[in-house]
Amino acid sequence: MSTVAPPPALATQALVAGYERDLPIVRGVDFQVAAGELVVILGPNGAGKSTLVKAIAGLVPIHSGHAFLAGADITRSPVQEKVRHGLAFVPQTENIFATLSIQENLQLAADILPRRVQAERIAEVCDLFPDLAARRSARAGNLSGGQRQMLAVARALIVKPSVLILDEPSAGLSPKIVGEVFARLKDINAAGITIVLVEQNVKAALAIAHRAVILVEGELRHEGPAATLAEDPIVAQLYLGAAPAGQEEGR
Ligand SMILES: Nc1ncnc2c1ncn2[C@@H]1O[C@H](COP(=O)(O)OP(=O)(O)OP(=O)(O)O)[C@@H](O)[C@H]1O
Ligand SMILES: [Mg+2]
Repeated sequence: MSTVAPPPALATQALVAGYERDLPIVRGVDFQVAAGELVVILGPNGAGKSTLVKAIAGLVPIHSGHAFLAGADITRSPVQEKVRHGLAFVPQTENIFATLSIQENLQLAADILPRRVQAERIAEVCDLFPDLAARRSARAGNLSGGQRQMLAVARALIVKPSVLILDEPSAGLSPKIVGEVFARLKDINAAGITIVLVEQNVKAALAIAHRAVILVEGELRHEGPAATLAEDPIVAQLYLGAAPAGQEEGR
């Protein structure tokens, strides 16, 4: 008897996407993420990392090719339907409502759910983020950078996604806080949620990822186990902005 392998949690096939029809930014990307994996997307500024994940999430037009969630074709699905199918996306910017309270931010994220489960889901997420739970009436705009990212992640988790995509959650955070946010992402992944992480913070991201892909000029140029890529000097030099060997300096 043969067993059929489960479909990837998330996949793209020859995906071409961009803001204008005659200007493809993502240029034919085949990308697969297995259930339970934590995969990081690396690459230089302007490579199209945000465009790729926004296209998957339904926020940038897909010109051709396909996106699949657990084997189901979600290429043309509206954003809300993708969320209902288990895809959660934390954008690079404007991922919380700064003028609203923590509670209101969570409630808005829960509005997509049936009314009877909303309070329960908010309570469950608050259990994961006790710091937020303790300050539910605080204005989100008054939170620290790290707490804001935690709130953005908490909002995304309200729907119990199967796949969580985050676009540069470490942006603007101090190294210590990056460590805390990433440790939390690792826990979330260990609890069974597949994670796709777009990052500039190469070292920290490779430390928690299983696998990494490198996007350059809208195309996937390299991929491999995170540990292997982290130690590949050619890759580091060409694509990740590392100093040539021997010229390493702290930043
Ligand atoms: N809203 C937009 N409208 C038109 N073009 C855009 C828009 N956002 C980004 N672009 C263009 O798409 C290309 C890829 O940008 P994208 O933001 O996807 O790169 P990135 O890899 O996420 O870069 P970064 O590391 O700086 O976040 C760039 O040339 C950029 O100018
Ligand atoms: Mg980006």
